[in-house]
Amino acid sequence: MASKKRPCRPEMFDFEGISMTNFFTDNWEKVKNFQSRPDDILIATYPKAGTTWVSYILDLLYFSNDDPECQTSQPIYMRIPFLESCFQEFSTVTGTEMADSLTTTPRLIKTHLPVQLVPKSFWDQNSRIVYVARNAKDNAVSYFHFDRMNMVQPEPGDFNHFLQKFMKGKNVFGPWFDHVSGWWEKKQTYSNLLYLFYEDLVEDTGREVERLCSFLGVSTSVEEREKITKMVQFDDMKQNKMINHETIPFMDFKISPFMRKGKVGDWKGHFTVAQNEQFDEVYKQKMKNTTLKFRTEI
Ligand code: A3P
Repeated sequence: MASKKRPCRPEMFDFEGISMTNFFTDNWEKVKNFQSRPDDILIATYPKAGTTWVSYILDLLYFSNDDPECQTSQPIYMRIPFLESCFQEFSTVTGTEMADSLTTTPRLIKTHLPVQLVPKSFWDQNSRIVYVARNAKDNAVSYFHFDRMNMVQPEPGDFNHFLQKFMKGKNVFGPWFDHVSGWWEKKQTYSNLLYLFYEDLVEDTGREVERLCSFLGVSTSVEEREKITKMVQFDDMKQNKMINHETIPFMDFKISPFMRKGKVGDWKGHFTVAQNEQFDEVYKQKMKNTTLKFRTEI
């Protein structure tokens, strides 16, 4: 990510039934044929659901003792490749190339792909997957601010415009509704998948770190877990230049920081009463066939 060139905002188009931009489809043959390994850990999320948070927790759980230097000198997006990314204007390496060149074990790999587009080898290798989901209203608000400040995302327009698009599922990586419920259904048959909620992480980070350790079979001392839990608090992550994304050239922090609020219920300051009623109606309809339940406040 060396170049400081400011990009044009991309167009969205339909890709396998999902709204996408070229940054996530240009390398598709390599993504589709990506060779996973049995000990890989895939961190899967809809954008803005807490990807960086869980990525950092896993990074600390696996590598803080081995290579503390690395955590203070290398941004998280270099340590945890974003599988489908292909930002040719800014980086000479694609997400798949970065993943292929990782020498650490396990490899931690991030994706925003809906479950049906995940490369087949992850299922064949029975790789472990951590999925994080966040309630739709806060997820939408966070995504709106992200699209405002991230110049490689489509222009969001005003909040109402963005929200109408969100309800129709016309965001990069497709409908939130199908993403969270598709991965939820997968969990019913694929046992190597841990489904976490952003709201649970906010409520009790230590408990969720423990849950992660037990799913991954990582044994850490209570002291170590407490240390990690402290390091991944919002204010600490916001100050950490290797985590807070301020080194990314196409994000404009004057518009909004990447680590913005980190709250459950922030949507209440964004939705009008009418927008909230409309959203609840759409939500009821779109989520009527799933057992998945979210908390919009804690
Ligand atoms: P907000 O925009 O609501 O603040 P992702 O990493 O998937 O892009 O998600 C980013 C969202 O997760 C942002 O939400 C960010 O502030 C929030 N986040 C990241 N780390 C967090 C933490 N330690 N505690 C609470 N929220 C966190």
